[in-house]
Amino acid sequence: MSAARVLITRRVPPPAVELLQQAGLTIDLVDQDDPPPRAELLRRVPGAAGLITMLSERIDAAVLDAAGPSLKVVANFAVGFDNIDLEACRQRGVRVTNTPGVLTDATADLAWALILSTARRVVEGDRLVRSRRWSGWAPMQLLGLQLTGATLGVVGAGRIGTAVALRSQGFGMRVLYADSQVNRELENKLAAQRVELHQLLAAADVVSLHVPLTPQSRHMIGAAELRLMKPTAILINTARGPVVDEAALVEALRERRIAGAGLDVYEHEPRLTPGLIDLPNVVLLPHLGSAATATRQKMSQMVAQNVIAVLRGEEPPNPVV
Ligand code: GLV
Ligand code: GLV
Repeated sequence: MSAARVLITRRVPPPAVELLQQAGLTIDLVDQDDPPPRAELLRRVPGAAGLITMLSERIDAAVLDAAGPSLKVVANFAVGFDNIDLEACRQRGVRVTNTPGVLTDATADLAWALILSTARRVVEGDRLVRSRRWSGWAPMQLLGLQLTGATLGVVGAGRIGTAVALRSQGFGMRVLYADSQVNRELENKLAAQRVELHQLLAAADVVSLHVPLTPQSRHMIGAAELRLMKPTAILINTARGPVVDEAALVEALRERRIAGAGLDVYEHEPRLTPGLIDLPNVVLLPHLGSAATATRQKMSQMVAQNVIAVLRGEEPPNPVV
């Protein structure tokens, strides 16, 4: 496999390049922090044996066909893989891998950063102080949602949803979850209750989304669902933007039908639905879920291990297809 070439579509932390080199692979690195234009991707991909891709690159039949029959593996530098046409990969015998597990804690931590900052209006407070117009402590100033004793509703109780729920113990929260499967860990450790989505939306003070993006979960939270939420409740999205109908969310926030939202992901990332940035009651992060140094190192190691395994004819550690 000495001549095999691996295209890495962005700068990533060092382990990937080191491991691939040690394995005798040739590396073609798109040496920048921004996504390569699609034309560049299509120009560089022909003849590659492996592709290390980011969630912002659409890997579809056109990319796979441009790569040609040399391509054996697409290793996504993410746990989510909605950017990849899995069926097109399957048809061409191309393996697909992701990075599960290593980013669960970092993403759950960031969901809590959004829960706390949205509930207690941290960003609005920071803006007030910086405005130089803060006139001092006031009994009615920037009142927010008290988390202690509140109800957390976790939509999607997989690894990340579970980790988010477990962290609520420190706040003595009641936990509801909506998932097609029973989660014994949450039921045993937190006495969490599994309910239907509409029940969760009506009862929760904090609704946190942790479902993958699939045709079924697209716009799972739309105008009707937002209308079920309490006017004092907040919505947190660290999953994928299109799970929420962002235009409907802007309306709900503008009309104060919900108290606030904390978003790490967007429907048309990195574009924002008009009106979103003008709202005071939303905290906006630039997709930082897994952006902890240690986590990104592990993700880098993992994508390389998956590519190397497939190119050696072995089963990859984290197969999706
Ligand atoms: C990030 O969003 C990921 O899926 O890893
Ligand atoms: C993804 O890692 C999930 O299962 O939540």
